[in-house]
Amino acid sequence: MTTLNINGQTHTVDAPPDMPLLWVIRDLVGLTGTKFGCGIAQCGACTVHLDGAAVRSCVLPVAAVGDKKITTIEAVGETPAGKKVQQAWRQIDVVQCGYCQSGQVMSAASLLAQNPNPTDADIDAAMAGNICRCGTYNRIRAAIKQAAKEA
Ligand code: FES
Ligand code: FES
Repeated sequence: MTTLNINGQTHTVDAPPDMPLLWVIRDLVGLTGTKFGCGIAQCGACTVHLDGAAVRSCVLPVAAVGDKKITTIEAVGETPAGKKVQQAWRQIDVVQCGYCQSGQVMSAASLLAQNPNPTDADIDAAMAGNICRCGTYNRIRAAIKQAAKEA
């Protein structure tokens, strides 16, 4: 059995040590806001925070999490940066189909928590691993800048 801290709550799960955290979050814990896209760390749809850092949960074995705090899209709005990002996302109306957007929000929230005034290069570096097949990149950039203004 593995004990995890997810969104401030303790969850004990019966998962093999090499099960990806994404599977644990979605299938064992039932938090389905985090999405499966590629399964090989290439799209960012599965992004969650580990102690505030954006990680790809599809390639992270649950045994590697340890006692680090996991935050998912369901609770990122309770963090100061996450709240600002979600407000800006709504104001700019970023979302198209929505599938990639949990991961986009998680990466943006991690960026702003660590760097409240990111440059365009900082945004490019932080968001490069989050793919959007609907091409919402311009609105994502505008929303990150809007959220930074609120900081
Ligand atoms: S599903 Fe994890 S990066 Fe694509
Ligand atoms: S909004 Fe559709 S994939 Fe990004």
